[in-house]
Amino acid sequence: YEHGAGDGRPRMYTEILEQPESVDRTLRGRLDERFGTAHLGGLDLDARELRAIRRVKILGCGSAYYVGQMGALLVEELARIPADAEAASEFRYRNPIIEPDTLYVAVSQSGETIDTLLAVEEIKRKGGRVIGLVNVVGSAVARACDGGIYLHAGPEIAVASTKALTTMYVGFALLALQLGRVRDLSVADGKRLVAGLQKLPAQIGQVLATEDRIAELAATLARSESMFFVGRVRGFPVAREGAQKFKEISYRHAEAYQMSELKHGPLALISPDVPTVAIVPDDELTDRNVAALHEIAARGGPLVVVTHAGVDLGALEVERIDVPKNETELDPLLLTVPLQLLAYHAALVLGHDVDKPRNLAKSVTVE
Ligand code: G6P
Repeated sequence: YEHGAGDGRPRMYTEILEQPESVDRTLRGRLDERFGTAHLGGLDLDARELRAIRRVKILGCGSAYYVGQMGALLVEELARIPADAEAASEFRYRNPIIEPDTLYVAVSQSGETIDTLLAVEEIKRKGGRVIGLVNVVGSAVARACDGGIYLHAGPEIAVASTKALTTMYVGFALLALQLGRVRDLSVADGKRLVAGLQKLPAQIGQVLATEDRIAELAATLARSESMFFVGRVRGFPVAREGAQKFKEISYRHAEAYQMSELKHGPLALISPDVPTVAIVPDDELTDRNVAALHEIAARGGPLVVVTHAGVDLGALEVERIDVPKNETELDPLLLTVPLQLLAYHAALVLGHDVDKPRNLAKSVTVE
């Protein structure tokens, strides 16, 4: 493996830029405009079997775990099935209860992460049903699962996951849509979401076009030793993934927190030296989120707000990054993309090897 894409640019950068195409490949042939649903042939589950699922449990590591949290919310919102995500390692070490009517979902770019693989094997050994959301065809996780959704993101080389992550998100949206449409999600809502998914590749391109502005903000953030990334509900896994990416390649301390939990502790740390990156989508929670921004601003905390053009931040003095609005349920994907560029440019300014961060491996295959 050679560093960079051969044109002097880090692999992570080219992989960020490839996202419109990779998301397009994940969607290809899987959307049904007429019935407002998705077809996932690899699941090998008919409508009756899909309806029998009472719970969805998602397992992965690192970015795959965080996108799993985004996926759990999608499943709950679109299919109204209880769903949650857990780090695959924690799951396998705690003697989990495996239920016959739970659908287990293993998420992995490489398909070789040992914790995810051993979680799958533990579920299978206890008679559970596991599907994979995997990028690498024929990998160990893909082979161990009962079926699944290949992401078709293309090869991902940089340690920090970008295009695999966004395609995982799309995989979850397809799964949630199909689960929803065999239950109570209406055909109108299904069609609305199909149209939203179809818009994503072009909208990712629109976010990428704002790179210069994001690079400026990254250079400012890179000066801080420590910062927070905050979000609420849909925004929280976005904040977690944003903080993870920032710390893994810039080596700055970046901590993710739920917006409402700030006042139960970390608010004590807010000061002019500790900036906060806040995820504030235009949705039913905007007012609550804006109120929390005031709390941060009142303590002199600098703010970078990733939001939508429609959100009125009033007199707050903030740096804002506006991303295109999609259907509210699908917003997390576009909110994630600027955070990739933020981490990337911060690492670049600090002179780090973006593609090979210290102490980290692309896939962790030993325990
Ligand atoms: C490593 C990588 C992360 C990745 C995680 C899961 O920790 O550094 O970027 O998210 O493994 O990898 P997987 O291949 O299972 O998605």
